[in-house]
Amino acid sequence: MTAIVTDLSTDAKTGGVILGGKQLHPLWLRERVQETHAYDHYNHQRLYEHSGLDPTLKVKKAAIGGNSSTLLVKFSDGYEAVFELSALAKELGILDDPESIPLPKSWDASLPFKRFNWNDLDNPEEMKSLLTAYFENAFCIMDDTPTERDSLRSHSKRFGFLRETNFGELFNVETKPNPSDLAYTDAALASHTDNPYRDPVPGIQYLHCLRNEVQGGLSTLVDGMAVAEAIGDENPDWLDSLENTIVRFRYQGPTGIYESSGPLISRDHRGYISHIRFSSRVDFVPALDPKILDMFYAARRRMHQLSNDLAFQIQFPFKPGTLLMMNNYRLFHGRTAFDGDLGYRHLQGCYIDHDGPQALYRALANGSTNTHILREA
Ligand SMILES: [Fe+2]
Repeated sequence: MTAIVTDLSTDAKTGGVILGGKQLHPLWLRERVQETHAYDHYNHQRLYEHSGLDPTLKVKKAAIGGNSSTLLVKFSDGYEAVFELSALAKELGILDDPESIPLPKSWDASLPFKRFNWNDLDNPEEMKSLLTAYFENAFCIMDDTPTERDSLRSHSKRFGFLRETNFGELFNVETKPNPSDLAYTDAALASHTDNPYRDPVPGIQYLHCLRNEVQGGLSTLVDGMAVAEAIGDENPDWLDSLENTIVRFRYQGPTGIYESSGPLISRDHRGYISHIRFSSRVDFVPALDPKILDMFYAARRRMHQLSNDLAFQIQFPFKPGTLLMMNNYRLFHGRTAFDGDLGYRHLQGCYIDHDGPQALYRALANGSTNTHILREA
């Protein structure tokens, strides 16, 4: 077999090893031992508290073994461990890890996107390809789902765990009198993200079309990552203001008051845009120095313009059976106007957490043929 890593030496300076050019702390290695007295191979958890390890632990001897597939280590306390080199190499980024979630790719109106068919998703390859599209683009569209009322509950549970809110497990988007939200009218909806006033903000939103007899009412999506990049290119101070001004969001409805605070744009530890909060009816910036607010208002105005700019926006119709799955932390969504008097339009929506589709992706990447997320008994 081809050796995964060939260069290995003990590191006198740190008491650890240097493997594939990476310095490894002796405790880092020790916490990864997989011998059965130290690691449960069923639940993949350590069988000890790592604070109990000797803080002065060192590596005394290290060698590549097992036909170049293992790392053999003797520690200063006499413990001898055998590590799978491939597992270490994946964690160190030396080998590709099939479990890695596909990275986000920013897009604009020119994005060519595939619509998936619900009936094809029992094929693990097709489900993996749908999830890949979802992680890259932050949305995917499925057609031909069953359209019984409330069937969204089981459709969405295929991917993850339902997040109930004060609107219930499922909410209905249809024209109705005395609406508690603009979504329940036939008005156009500008680009926004859902529920920034909630703590935590719902991760993934589903919209499921049961009936649609109207013209218009197209669903619109805009990539928040692309908008943030464009704002940063135009004026880095604007992006800075949007990332560093903490805004309070508040919803006051018939059943309760919900509040949460955060910047309009956040990044994750890798620097990727990870959370867009934008809902221009429910945001309240603090009374900061007027000069600071001048900058913030200009930046927020630009964010609103770009998030409604057709150059960034894709539009698509909902037909009965269409199911949209979108990342509410990355995309703006909205809809074009329609005339509710001309016909009936009924969508149902719900939210799930981010981690469900990630777990399903990892299972498929590890060879599972089950295209539904598993629940522990
Ligand atoms: Fe919405």
